[in-house]
Amino acid sequence: MPIGKWVAIGALGVVGLTSQAASIKKQPFGKTQEGKQVELYTLTNSKGIEVAIATYGGTIVSLKVPDRNGKMGDVVLGLATVKSYEHNTAYLGALIGRYGNRIGNGKFTLNGVEYKLPQNNGQATLHGGPKGFDKVMWTAKEVPNGLELTYLSADGEEGFPGNLSVKVVYTLNDDNELKMDYSATTDKDTVVNLTNHAYFNLAGEGQGDILGHVLSIHADRFTPTDAGQIPTGELKPVEGTPFDFRTPQAIGARINVQDEQLARGSGYDHNFVLNRKGVGMELAARVVEPQSGRVLEVLTTEPGIQFYSGNFLYKTKFPMRSGLCLETQHFPDSPNQPSFPTTVLRPGQVFRSRTIYRFSPSA
Ligand code: GLA
Repeated sequence: MPIGKWVAIGALGVVGLTSQAASIKKQPFGKTQEGKQVELYTLTNSKGIEVAIATYGGTIVSLKVPDRNGKMGDVVLGLATVKSYEHNTAYLGALIGRYGNRIGNGKFTLNGVEYKLPQNNGQATLHGGPKGFDKVMWTAKEVPNGLELTYLSADGEEGFPGNLSVKVVYTLNDDNELKMDYSATTDKDTVVNLTNHAYFNLAGEGQGDILGHVLSIHADRFTPTDAGQIPTGELKPVEGTPFDFRTPQAIGARINVQDEQLARGSGYDHNFVLNRKGVGMELAARVVEPQSGRVLEVLTTEPGIQFYSGNFLYKTKFPMRSGLCLETQHFPDSPNQPSFPTTVLRPGQVFRSRTIYRFSPSA
């Protein structure tokens, strides 16, 4: 709950009610090619942290946080226009669905029925298909300290069964946490895996690559992939591999070593199996940028996290590896991998998932 407090403001002697709740501002961002108006909502907390979210793709366009000297910097890669987001293929800052990461061969079988999906990444379906949740208009509603975005994905959209009603609530609190609460319901058995695809550069957008960022991931195992980046099904120990981030490691320290898995991802582009104690919120990853002192912690209820070192960013206006993604998720290709935690959602059930990006200038 927002805590209101009375303050006297300077020489004017004006007494007013301020609140520690995040403020919210709405401004037009532009129009889609189809002529739909896109809004940009900016949430600001009492510490001056500011996140701007567009209704197109539910996209985090910018996220300004202080460094160790209090200097604000935009730590999320973003674009200036709706048009540039419509043409963008890197999922910059966007909400991802119905299915985050890959479904092998663009198909899966559920209740004995085979569902064929559009293949947009070699033989695979990546991030929900060519018109995934990153490329749709979300309906926005202001809520206390945040923004609620809803989207109704019709039965058969991008090949997936069931009318899926999706809600994502972004909230910003005074502990410098940006929280994402995802929920979904369906009217037919389906699969769902939702995430956000923000690319972080804690030195600030445009301030070089992320190879000097120091990363820890709470994972003893990861899911190695085949040549098409589809998990083989194995949960491989990170021990003795360049995927061991159980202690803090610079991202660039081992990224160029001879390693079949690194070669398959053109760098890091892998799902880590989080060490979990239960089903609640747990710390999954921590990133420190030594120069600025900015720290990002990722907490989640999800069983996995995709660490992607921005290897294909050169296809955008951003240089290769100038941002990194930590996409909380269920494991890639789960609909075809019976041994992975299930991503099936049935009528009457509510899918729920929560992730927090927490910032501190403490390193
Ligand atoms: C995910 C995938 C990557 C890549 C990026 C976007 O992280 O695993 O292979 O597609 O999205 O370019």
